[in-house]
Amino acid sequence: MPGRILSSSFHFIHFSLFLFTAIIPSDSLTVPSDIAALQAFKASIEPSTIPPWSCLASWNFSTDPCSIPRRANFLCGLSCSPDSTRITSLALDSVGYSGTLSPVVSTLAKLEILDLSDNSFYGIIPPSLSSLSLLKTFSLHRNSFSGSFPRSIVNLKSLEELDISGNFLAGSLPNTLFSLSSLRRLDLSFNKFTGSLPKMPPNLLELVAKANSLSGPISKTSFVGLTQLEVVDLSCNSFAGVLRSWFFQLPSLQQVNLSNNSLTGLQIWKPNSGYSELVAVDLGFNQIEGYVPVNLSDYPTLSSLSMRYNRLRGPIPWQFGKKGTLKRLYLDGNYLIGKPPAGLLSGNPLVAGSLSYNCLQGCPASTQLCSPSQKPTAVCKQAYGGRNPRSS
Ligand SMILES: *[C@@H]1O[C@H](CO)[C@@H](O)[C@H](O)[C@H]1NC(C)=O
Ligand SMILES: *[C@@H]1O[C@H](CO)[C@@H](O)[C@H](O)[C@H]1NC(C)=O
Ligand SMILES: *[C@@H]1O[C@H](CO)[C@@H](O)[C@H](O)[C@H]1NC(C)=O
Ligand SMILES: *[C@@H]1O[C@H](CO)[C@@H](O)[C@H](O)[C@H]1NC(C)=O
Repeated sequence: MPGRILSSSFHFIHFSLFLFTAIIPSDSLTVPSDIAALQAFKASIEPSTIPPWSCLASWNFSTDPCSIPRRANFLCGLSCSPDSTRITSLALDSVGYSGTLSPVVSTLAKLEILDLSDNSFYGIIPPSLSSLSLLKTFSLHRNSFSGSFPRSIVNLKSLEELDISGNFLAGSLPNTLFSLSSLRRLDLSFNKFTGSLPKMPPNLLELVAKANSLSGPISKTSFVGLTQLEVVDLSCNSFAGVLRSWFFQLPSLQQVNLSNNSLTGLQIWKPNSGYSELVAVDLGFNQIEGYVPVNLSDYPTLSSLSMRYNRLRGPIPWQFGKKGTLKRLYLDGNYLIGKPPAGLLSGNPLVAGSLSYNCLQGCPASTQLCSPSQKPTAVCKQAYGGRNPRSS
């Protein structure tokens, strides 16, 4: 029966074609070195910290990590290149994975995103990561990494976002940090970094390094050429000295938080050609001496200012009473004298904030800005060399 033979050989051919197509693509999927790197990455995480519902629990290497659709395995935590051969993103869920970061991850040569934030990784940040030349986003936010800032990271020429906040990293920041030429956002907050602020990368938009032990002056050499810098938060460190006039003239500056440092003086010039995008300034809890900087009233978009708990003297500049953009003003805990500008106490809408605990006159405790009270006369007299500043 020729027909029958034909039919079964057709089935045979069909079957082998099926096998063929089932096997060949898996050969052309994820490159073996990327699979090996993922295996090493998972192997360095303590199995007891991998919950059954998590991304990592679905990483079962009996199938190819980049094969799609993903039905049971590799459900999340990674992305592949469009041709399904290379890993481009390793972004874990935040479920408390604990372990070290395997240095073998550095062989994922096409990796653009490495995000392990909000887990419990510990140990050092492997220096070998410097070979990830396409890496754009690197976040280790809130883990338990220790050791120093990995010097080799400064070689990551594609890096746009580096967030190593909330770890136990210590030591000084590398002097070569500025060579991160693509970096837009840098967050070093809540670590134990010490020493001075080095020269910053030229294309930075956001510099955040709150709650470390950084010290020394805030010097122009760290910020030279940073024409795009919008956000600076260096609060809760030990920066000292006088903040000079160049700082507030950085052309793109919008938000500045230098509170809880040891600054002793402040020099603020009018904005260059009247132009500035500055919106919020927090210089509270320093040791700044001198007068409230009247030139701040010339910043056209300034809406929030705190200089609370410093050593400011003299009157509140009358220009602040006419500054319509001002929504929040905290000048409490200084030695300010005289009468607050009328516009502050009676403006509509009212400026929020506090002028309490100064040496002001005509600041009725019944108003929100002046409550609960001013400093006792004895304290004010002492600050003004024995002369009662309220009786002039
Ligand atoms: C991985 O998948 C294979 C095949 O589906 C299964 O036999 C094996 O138990 C899985 N391994 C783990 C660790 O879940
Ligand atoms: C400035 O930083 C301090 C400490 O980190 C924080 O408490 C404060 O709210 C910040 N100021 C503004 C205006 O966000
Ligand atoms: C800032 O310093 C003041 C005074 O030392 C302190 O009360 C406050 O808690 C500090 N703020 C932060 C956010 O550490
Ligand atoms: C205000 O700024 C100008 C330059 O713009 C400067 O000459 C002047 O000294 C500043 N005033 C104060 C009180 O700092």
